[in-house]
Amino acid sequence: KLTAKELFHGILFPGHLHSQDSLRLALKFQFRDTDILIVSYPKSGTTWMQEIVTLISSRGDPHLSQTVPNYARAPWLEQYYFTELLEALSSAPRVMTTHLPHHLLGPTLQGSNAKIIYVSRNPKDVAVSYYYFHKMAAFLPKFSTFSEFLHRFLDGTVCYGSWFDHVKDWTSQTATMSNLLHITYEEMSLDLRGTIKRISSFLQCPLVEDEVTSCVKHCSFSSMKDNTMVNYTLIAAEIMDHSKGSFMRNGKIGDWKNQFTQEQNQYFNSIFESKMENCTLEFVWE
Ligand code: PPS
Repeated sequence: KLTAKELFHGILFPGHLHSQDSLRLALKFQFRDTDILIVSYPKSGTTWMQEIVTLISSRGDPHLSQTVPNYARAPWLEQYYFTELLEALSSAPRVMTTHLPHHLLGPTLQGSNAKIIYVSRNPKDVAVSYYYFHKMAAFLPKFSTFSEFLHRFLDGTVCYGSWFDHVKDWTSQTATMSNLLHITYEEMSLDLRGTIKRISSFLQCPLVEDEVTSCVKHCSFSSMKDNTMVNYTLIAAEIMDHSKGSFMRNGKIGDWKNQFTQEQNQYFNSIFESKMENCTLEFVWE
């Protein structure tokens, strides 16, 4: 296990489920061309994408997504249960997840044709979602105020490092990597059906309309909130305390407006402008 202050390549990772060895192993992983890798900065729609990919691969049949926890059917590459869980994923394509930044995982993926789906979300909503997740996740450091958390988030000294580097580095690869699809949380929110079709065509798993309809139904916020295989209620209270919040918390675009003060918003915007200066990505904020 990593201790609370121990860094891996200069980045903080939670001690829970991560160790120096599990992180080192992740960087040596041999991907197969048939693998599907979901990549995201935390709280950007990872679980949602895990559900979408599971449902697409099952042609809309919810059996797998309702009987196997998300972390077992799409395990995190960097966590120490990964090797054990991977063995259980016998049939191709294997679906995996990672929060690792591109500067660490990019070299490992060099030359691979594994299909990579990068999920991003507007960073104001990421920050709010991440802040509330820190309150319920016993393995994450505690912050007494949102302001304190926001400073650390904008500094890039929270677990998994800088949101700015993560998003800029991964998305800039889309220009040269045809096996990388960038999907945003906001696209999923605004046009779930269309986004599922885009993903199914990228995965070369075309679906008929009824199958798409079933995927849409089973990965809606309300279905996922009630699905114990994705809402983390199976996790012991010492690890995730559901009396302090809910993993499927709000599920909306623009919730940051209920959290940010005007000052925090100005501070955020000034950092955002300088860090994203040469970046052409556009964000849906509300
Ligand atoms: S984690 O811990 O990194 O795996 O978290 P992640 O899954 O990336 O992000 C959690 C946020 O995604 C929201 N979510 C959804 N929103 C809309 N529709 C669906 N189906 C859905 N599934 C998950 C979840 O509620 C968290 O966002 P917030 O804003 O906190 O509600």
